[in-house]
Amino acid sequence: MTAQEARILELHEAFEPDARQKIAAILAEGSVTQAQICRESGVSSGILSPWLQEKYRGDSQAVEAKLRTWLNARERKTQIASVLPVAPPWIETPTAEKITAVLAYAQMAGDVGCIYGGAGMGKTVTLRAYAENNPNVWVVEMHAAGAAVASALEEIAEAVGLRGLPSRAVRLHREIVKRLRGSEGLLIIDEAQHLRTGAIEAIRALHDATGVGLVLCGNESVYARLTGGSREATFAQLFSRLGKRLHLAKPNRADVLHLAAHYGVTDKAEQALLMEIAAKPGALRGVVKALRLAGMFAAGAGATAIGCEHIRAAWVDLGGAA
Ligand SMILES: Nc1ncnc2c1ncn2[C@@H]1O[C@H](COP(=O)(O)OP(=O)(O)OP(=O)(O)O)[C@@H](O)[C@H]1O
Ligand SMILES: [Mg+2]
Repeated sequence: MTAQEARILELHEAFEPDARQKIAAILAEGSVTQAQICRESGVSSGILSPWLQEKYRGDSQAVEAKLRTWLNARERKTQIASVLPVAPPWIETPTAEKITAVLAYAQMAGDVGCIYGGAGMGKTVTLRAYAENNPNVWVVEMHAAGAAVASALEEIAEAVGLRGLPSRAVRLHREIVKRLRGSEGLLIIDEAQHLRTGAIEAIRALHDATGVGLVLCGNESVYARLTGGSREATFAQLFSRLGKRLHLAKPNRADVLHLAAHYGVTDKAEQALLMEIAAKPGALRGVVKALRLAGMFAAGAGATAIGCEHIRAAWVDLGGAA
């Protein structure tokens, strides 16, 4: 390094705002809260506040080191976000149309529907899009921790806009019934494979008491549980109420072409490559992830469009086999 370069660097460092100033500026912008910084950086709130005010009496340098790491990670994320093409909005692909048809039917007829199948078929994005575009549609995403009766009802209560209720199943049931009755609405349970027997029973009871449309959505095991093996009485009861059922095994060719077109990919070779990705587990999720990253690679290489080489590189980079 020449003496002049060293002097420039020195001046640059002198004017480089320190971590404290940077964080104060970020907080002032309002894009992030102190609580979020604490969560993401591992610095506790009892330390961050005094440190920001230069009143922290502990190891200030150690705190600064953690916060610098957080600042660097944040900068990297912002850089990536600025070049990574945004995910497509919901696109009405043929599979999405089929899902929408089941939802519309269940809502209109106050019937029970079941949509089940492999990962990344576009189930969840389509449920959400339907809920955005239609009145009185509630999507509840189940998870292992919410699989028992009271917790499942609590999730539903929250989704239909009831807050602050005690977590007693009887009370929750009563309030949800009041809310749903006469709503001509649709209750959608996504990730329904997590529901335990009692919770399925409780949800069926909501449907029976209100006539609200009900759609259970999730992986292959959702339907298998309604029909399968021992055919427990609870499942058989719900099964007998089942109107439309939709099994989504593999994405449609047209699904892939619709999504690809969103990224300006319309040539046969690239489309064929994306079809291969769509045939793997993860289906359309893999296609969109590969297209986004391929878009970034193409932009980085100064290419005007996404080519096979970008898609291949993206797929490998995402951990897929070449
Ligand atoms: N119709 C669509 N419009 C836009 N993006 C889509 C569409 N279908 C699929 N995708 C893309 O595929 C990804 C996976 O979709 P989604 O999460 O809805 O799958 P899923 O069927 O619910 O899968 P899982 O069973 O794993 O929950 C989405 O994040 C999105 O990037
Ligand atoms: Mg899903």
